[in-house]
Amino acid sequence: MIADSLDLLPSSARRDVILQLRADHAARLAQDKKGFQRFRAPYETVRSLPQARCSDLDGDTVRIGERQELADTTFQQLTAAMRAFMPWRKGPFNLFGLEIDAEWRSFRKWNRLLPELPDLAGKVVADIGCNNGYYMFRMAPYRPRCVVGFEPMLQHYYCFQALNHLAGQPHLFIEPFGVEQLIHYPRCFDVVFLMGIIYHRISPVTMLREVREAMQPGGTLLVESQAIPGDEPVALFPAERYAKVPGTYFVPTASCLVNWLKRVGFDEVECFCSHPMSSEEQRQTEWMTFESYADFIDPADPGRTVEGYPAPLRVFVKAINPG
Ligand SMILES: C[S@@+](CC[C@H](N)C(=O)[O-])C[C@H]1O[C@@H](n2cnc3c(N)ncnc32)[C@H](O)[C@@H]1O
Repeated sequence: MIADSLDLLPSSARRDVILQLRADHAARLAQDKKGFQRFRAPYETVRSLPQARCSDLDGDTVRIGERQELADTTFQQLTAAMRAFMPWRKGPFNLFGLEIDAEWRSFRKWNRLLPELPDLAGKVVADIGCNNGYYMFRMAPYRPRCVVGFEPMLQHYYCFQALNHLAGQPHLFIEPFGVEQLIHYPRCFDVVFLMGIIYHRISPVTMLREVREAMQPGGTLLVESQAIPGDEPVALFPAERYAKVPGTYFVPTASCLVNWLKRVGFDEVECFCSHPMSSEEQRQTEWMTFESYADFIDPADPGRTVEGYPAPLRVFVKAINPG
């Protein structure tokens, strides 16, 4: 069993800094006992459960284990632990027969990526803002050397750890770090997934430069983003919220995003998919009981957010780091 992603990364990774960051993070958590325990406790419960005998990571639903592998009391323990990770944003998952219908039907995004997916076999991959790791599990059948998820939110960090305890995928790892920590991984990654992140960054171009510096020459970047419609290379900067979400800064058109990538030095920049968002894809479920897409959009005009801005498209862009 491989224990640490650092053993699989190129030697350019700043191993000492990364180890120190992990230690600092653990020390901060130890001080924040209440918040820490909220998601650590269900993870500890799951850690006492057996690993699944078989998983199916090739379908729209990530399937880990089968119902007959668990006694009824253990299944109840699993169910309670998984409910403690609510709200579930990404999925769906089926864990030993427990159906977890997340807010996002994430397989739709994955299926849009598939035609442009680079060969992941033997590659060092980063998934920035990996959430509970849904996409990392979908990458696993392509036999990457390793996938490192970057996820600073404890809810998602421990949820992934719990899921991967059950799935036992030895090449999937998560760090409790944000995209800000990529600077400690110079020339490390062959493939980077940057999905649902760029419009949350106050300085998207600086972030893209840092992403590029973390990539191997010839490496592939896959960006997925909210976008506004239009052909002009412009970005919307909302006064406060965009589709009710605070912390949204620049929402670009597809051509604006392409220009950002070209200006930081990426080659072969290509927008390969653009589609409107819908409440078919992002909606309230039993596992995510808060507001969702339908509540973010003007009920009188589906082309507008509740703030009166253009309703979001989602765009996909592929780019190569020339080195
Ligand atoms: C909109 S979700 C996108 C999740 C997933 N990548 C996808 O495309 O479905 C944004 C994710 O980024 C995580 N996140 C928050 N701050 C971050 C940061 N500074 N760096 C990287 N990820 C961050 C959030 O916790 C969340 O899981």
